[in-house]
Amino acid sequence: MYSSDRPEPVRRRRHRADDDAPHRRPGRADADVSALDGRAGHDPDTAEVPGGGDRWSTWPGLPAGSRGPHPRPGWLVTETGAVDHERGVLKTGKEADVHLLERGLPGRAGVLLAAKRYRDPTHRMFHRDAGYLEGRRVRRSREMRAMAQRTALGRDLLDGQWAAAEFAALARLYGAGAPVPYPVSVEGTEILLEFVGSPDGRAAPRLAALRPDPDGLAALWSDLADALGVLADLGWAHGDLSAYNVLVHGGRAVLIDLPQVVDVVGNPQGPEFLDRDVRRIGEWFVGRGLDPAAPAHLLSELRERSRLG
Ligand SMILES: Nc1ncnc2c1ncn2[C@@H]1O[C@H](COP(=O)(O)OP(=O)(O)OP(=O)(O)O)[C@@H](O)[C@H]1O
Ligand SMILES: [Mg+2]
Repeated sequence: MYSSDRPEPVRRRRHRADDDAPHRRPGRADADVSALDGRAGHDPDTAEVPGGGDRWSTWPGLPAGSRGPHPRPGWLVTETGAVDHERGVLKTGKEADVHLLERGLPGRAGVLLAAKRYRDPTHRMFHRDAGYLEGRRVRRSREMRAMAQRTALGRDLLDGQWAAAEFAALARLYGAGAPVPYPVSVEGTEILLEFVGSPDGRAAPRLAALRPDPDGLAALWSDLADALGVLADLGWAHGDLSAYNVLVHGGRAVLIDLPQVVDVVGNPQGPEFLDRDVRRIGEWFVGRGLDPAAPAHLLSELRERSRLG
């Protein structure tokens, strides 16, 4: 899928804040924990978080289903003694705020993560909640009714549901080889993601902020076509694709903001979402010099691959 003369896709790149830090050997995590566990002998609920951390790492307390998929990247911090430091806000958005988090053992350089925190119900807009939920399975009908009626319970469910939906979509896409940030974990309204950016904490620019030269433009379009092809093979459309939801890191496109992934076949509006995704991103590219016929070609390929015919 990727030609060899271009940088590796994001999922295979290392994102250690300190690339010189010693590697932990695979399979040694448990042994390391006994030696380095800062929580040893402490009640994690009351003990002060060491090293000026803002909280203990949330990883050890999470059930398996809330943790990122295998194979897990080598940079992932899983030690019980690790702590999280808040390093500032990357972006405040309509529905979520994205914070920069550093996770590591006290006294050691940590790994940067993006913490996407969905807003509490009263501060959110619900523009995504209408069409996207169609065809999405919610097992208990009481919950479905609560969501539909926008009761307090329903809004909580919706918030948690968006975080859970984004995490699940990212996990599946990462496993399928799409260029998305590795989804580290989900807990309530917070998802932790691989940080896409530089080691000093600057997030990769959005596509919308760039003016690529013709070669760069062609390479990014081809990246995007590959990425959307992976989604189409799963029967999915992004659902909110635009030059604002694509980051460009090391010359490669990385898809973000995927809570509303749409089942192209199961959702009655699925084909329209797919059309809109390709039209919107296609307009951006054509406006910057892409062959105007390219978006239509991509759309028909994606429709075929998602079995819309
Ligand atoms: N994994 C990541 N690594 C680095 N930066 C990120 C990451 N995820 C999100 N961001 C930053 O946060 C911004 C908002 O993320 P995202 O689009 O997922 O949230 P949003 O609430 O939907 O925002 P908006 O309403 O602006 O679309 C991104 O444009 C990007 O700058
Ligand atoms: Mg966004």
